[in-house]
Amino acid sequence: MIKNSKKLITIVGGGNIGSSWALVFLLHGYRVSIYDKNYEVQSKSKKSIKRGLNLFTESNNLDSKKIKNILSRINYFKDLKEALYDTKYVIEAINENLKDKINVFKDISQNVDKDIVIASSSSFIPISKISEKTINKCRCLNLHPGNPPYLLKFAEIVPSTYTSKKALDQTKSLLKSIKLHPIILKKEIDGFVFNRLQGALLKEAYSLINDDIVSASDIDLLVTNGLGLRWAVLGPFETIDLNTKG
Ligand SMILES: NC(=O)c1ccc[n+]([C@@H]2O[C@H](COP(=O)([O-])OP(=O)(O)OC[C@H]3O[C@@H](n4cnc5c(N)ncnc54)[C@H](O)[C@@H]3O)[C@@H](O)[C@H]2O)c1
Repeated sequence: MIKNSKKLITIVGGGNIGSSWALVFLLHGYRVSIYDKNYEVQSKSKKSIKRGLNLFTESNNLDSKKIKNILSRINYFKDLKEALYDTKYVIEAINENLKDKINVFKDISQNVDKDIVIASSSSFIPISKISEKTINKCRCLNLHPGNPPYLLKFAEIVPSTYTSKKALDQTKSLLKSIKLHPIILKKEIDGFVFNRLQGALLKEAYSLINDDIVSASDIDLLVTNGLGLRWAVLGPFETIDLNTKG
């Protein structure tokens, strides 16, 4: 924990995902700055971070002194430039709107050193589109978390054709430092992998319901009591390996 305490992560957009990201970094000793165009979100964000911390009181042995220390490492800013001062890594988590993301990336890149990585939490939009007007766009990539990233233990890293190896390596080690598994996509694709897999399952589920084979609630039961339990231990390809051959 101590070794991360001097590193500052800046999060742009303090809504659901921005606040969840903040919680993960705080739990692993980082300092966090949050900038949101709506400064009022800070009270909601603080509440959700405190609520999230409650989930970790036992596993992380958190007493009131430790919680106070964790909360002292987060600051909210009205000004983007101030939120970026001395930052070591920037994560954008604003609404899923391409035009706004392009502008925010441009603004961030004008206010940090040219080597500081700027990552987008976008669920769907490839970084090559978001970084269109960014200065030194080889430091940009998608960093798509599960929701919430303090419970789902992975994030997808999606580089564009021009993302540098340095930005990729820094992002991999950042994720490892917060105990998330980096899932690296070899090339850009809309929707990335997590949502595509969820989408494939949902498509089949809707089709089974439309054909009146099974009810929606039984599909939910089958996933929570069957596939979900299996997939928490074995992925689909590991399962195939265990099947009887031939
Ligand atoms: N919700 C999910 O399940 C989920 C999962 C993974 C990734 N994501 C992605 O994370 C991003 C954020 O999603 P969310 O669910 O946290 O949305 P949200 O609406 O909860 O939060 C977005 C925040 O961004 C702020 N904002 C908007 N424009 C801004 C700007 N120009 N500058 C600064 N702040 C700005 C808003 O005021 C708001 O507080 C999206 O790109 C989304 O696709 C969402």
